[in-house]
Amino acid sequence: MSQSRLGEAHHPRPQWKSRLGFILAAIGSAVGLGNIWRFSYLVYDNGGGAFLIPYLVALVVVGIPLMILELGIGHRMRGSSPMSFAKVSRSWEWVGWWSVLLVMYGIMLYYSTVIAWCVNYVYHSFTLAWGADPNNYFYNEFLQLSSKPFELGDIRLPILLSLSLVWFLCWLIVYFGIQKGVERANKIFMPLLLGLILILVLWSVSLEGAAKGIAVYLKPDFSKLSEKKVWIDAFSQIFFTLSLGFGIMIAYASYLPRKVNIVKDALIISVGNCIFSFISGFAVFGTLGYMAMAQNKEVSEVVSKSIGLAFVSYPQAISLMPAFAKTFGVIFFSSLVIAGISSAISIVEAFSSAIIDKFNYTRKGVVTFVCATGFFGSIIFSAKSGLYWLDIADHFITHYGLVIIGILQCIIVGWIYRAGKLRQHINKVAPDSLVKFWDACVMYITPAILTFLLVNAFIKEISSRYEGYDMAPLLLIGPVWLVVVMIGSLFVAMYPWKKELEDLEHEHE
Ligand code: PHE
Repeated sequence: MSQSRLGEAHHPRPQWKSRLGFILAAIGSAVGLGNIWRFSYLVYDNGGGAFLIPYLVALVVVGIPLMILELGIGHRMRGSSPMSFAKVSRSWEWVGWWSVLLVMYGIMLYYSTVIAWCVNYVYHSFTLAWGADPNNYFYNEFLQLSSKPFELGDIRLPILLSLSLVWFLCWLIVYFGIQKGVERANKIFMPLLLGLILILVLWSVSLEGAAKGIAVYLKPDFSKLSEKKVWIDAFSQIFFTLSLGFGIMIAYASYLPRKVNIVKDALIISVGNCIFSFISGFAVFGTLGYMAMAQNKEVSEVVSKSIGLAFVSYPQAISLMPAFAKTFGVIFFSSLVIAGISSAISIVEAFSSAIIDKFNYTRKGVVTFVCATGFFGSIIFSAKSGLYWLDIADHFITHYGLVIIGILQCIIVGWIYRAGKLRQHINKVAPDSLVKFWDACVMYITPAILTFLLVNAFIKEISSRYEGYDMAPLLLIGPVWLVVVMIGSLFVAMYPWKKELEDLEHEHE
């Protein structure tokens, strides 16, 4: 095998210090804000416990096969996502760029803003600043939300300040590289996060009325399963929560040593992440149950939709706590910050490693550039219209961008590189760990399901304007942005590789 020396001309490829370090970093990427606020409100919105069925189906038919695909190809090619795809075929390199660019200058811009809100709310927990009306506080005092997306309004200074802190932390961690930065940070963050979440869960379920909330969480409304939206939400949540289609898992696997059990690690990461979501659901719903009881209302009356769950319902519940309310608030929002930062650094790493691979610049310079541009890009989300922008960008990137990237990955790896060949590579290190059925998943089942979902999401899209927004912002922040980034990716991909190009084309064993 011609071991690739791409990217190793000046800077040898970094490696994880230990397997545990890699697994913690990958789980750190997967476990994020998505596991706490996104998962809980999706469950609530989509029929309670019944949502767990499409969620599990999505995990098995799309999540795990794609996790194996991403880890496998990154490990085989020893490269970031653009490099790995370029080694399969130069004409598909752009898909790698599209995924890292879209996530970095899309998801990451609003994701860092939500982490910034959480930082503010840690601080506000000390004084329970939201007072008696957390809804009014969040929308009118904290965000000072404007009336429509294009009515930008000023930049909210408190959000901007926290945003700079978030980007500074990302920069600081990734700057020091894989072992001293990303791995070390996750070795601290992950146990800490688990500890905090367990405290929250035990605390919440011991509150009076918690059982009522948990019943809402677990009691299935099966009639919801006939709605397409429930299935589309479950599949896009699996992409988001497992950081699939982000190029992250490919980059992280490229730092693995030769001898690894990809299948086992993929299972630990995927299942571990989903168990984490499931457990944190108890904290969220237990608290909602308590709040309903304290206000003598039904659980359905105290839940807010989407983002409001974390920033309206939860603060309300915190204020009503019988004891140590402030401590509860600080723990809740700090765990969101930790979960968020460990995901944020993974995309900064995935994007930086793509640039380092292609242009062979130094890590320190690249990371500084990436974080600086990320910070400037995210400022738009701290304007008074930020929440609308976030909502539209999130909708289009997760429902279309990530799903299309998933389909393209199946084509590139399943058909062009060939699933059987990657399976052989994976099985070479861990004999018989991957069964042949995986080939069928990657070549037929997963892309077919994803295409079906995509078509259905699209039909729904054109039949009604998403959330009733005006056409112009919907188009601009949604599809136009997807296409602009795609064209940008095609240009970057056309640029020649700094190192031995032959290796790219003759890489196949
Ligand atoms: N998996 C993350 C989550 O669930 C999503 C994410 C990863 C977002 C990396 C940004 C960067 O929150």
